[in-house]
Amino acid sequence: MKHLIDPTDLSVEEIDGILNLALDIIDNKSKYSEACKGKKLATLFFEPSTRTRLSFEAAMMELGGNVLGFSSADSSSATKGESVGDTIRVVGCYADIIAMRHPKEGAPMLGSMVSPVPIINAGDGGHNHPTQTLTDLLTIKREKGDLNNFTIGLCGDLKFGRTVHSLIKALSRYEGIKFILISPKELKVPEYIITEVFEKNNIDYREVTTMEEVMSELDIIYMTRVQKERFFNEADYVRLKDTYILDKSKLKNAKESLTIMHPLPRVNEISTELDDDPRAAYFRQALNGKYVRMALILTLLGVNVNEG
Ligand code: CP
Repeated sequence: MKHLIDPTDLSVEEIDGILNLALDIIDNKSKYSEACKGKKLATLFFEPSTRTRLSFEAAMMELGGNVLGFSSADSSSATKGESVGDTIRVVGCYADIIAMRHPKEGAPMLGSMVSPVPIINAGDGGHNHPTQTLTDLLTIKREKGDLNNFTIGLCGDLKFGRTVHSLIKALSRYEGIKFILISPKELKVPEYIITEVFEKNNIDYREVTTMEEVMSELDIIYMTRVQKERFFNEADYVRLKDTYILDKSKLKNAKESLTIMHPLPRVNEISTELDDDPRAAYFRQALNGKYVRMALILTLLGVNVNEG
């Protein structure tokens, strides 16, 4: 039985398989409409979500399966003191697969150690968000046609932004990717990403503090929200929250072929004046999340619609 806790739980070949399956689902939706008939997905969200939870639920529904779960810890027996391990053991009696989001780093990993069914990490604290990464990779593949040989600028809260940590881990296994890390000094990527991912694998990266100085080099700009919920100090959040706002003026020197991504939710990081710019891919990205989660559910459940 396979779980998805960290993006590196999947080999590059397995990721490519999931992305290709997602592309087939997009082209042949009816072929998959009963693929998970009789199966149940549980969504256990101990932290708020719009896209991840609802796209998982929509994904299972479009596969002909059913969904159950909760959208906040308050409505679960966690409030009575039940452990993550016990919760997972019990929900594993009711569902065939579980997607779980938790504010504590490592909670889905803990769950996977006792789970009788596949566990998907739908975001753990400031650590990882592997299904957002699959969404991002599918978006890059669809927008750019390739997952190799481009320069990506990751901008904003690179310290607490789990989507960035997971995306770096995944993309660093493809060829010819240059990373430009754009953040204030207080929100730089964690040191383990620098040493264990970039330096260990001899990957081209550099750290800068403004987007203007690198805009002309970028093939992709990946904007992120400053993660208010992870700050210990409200004053620091208020001081840093609007450090980067991408608008028309900032794109003056950008490539015509630039792709603008954001995992969403957006606060102020991208002006709404860019929403109709053909380079703005963030709503297409959100849609890709549903298709890639359909492909992931099929893969982890071992369902192959081409086998009789
Ligand atoms: N991108 C993302 O994880 O969004 P939600 O927090 O709304 O799920």
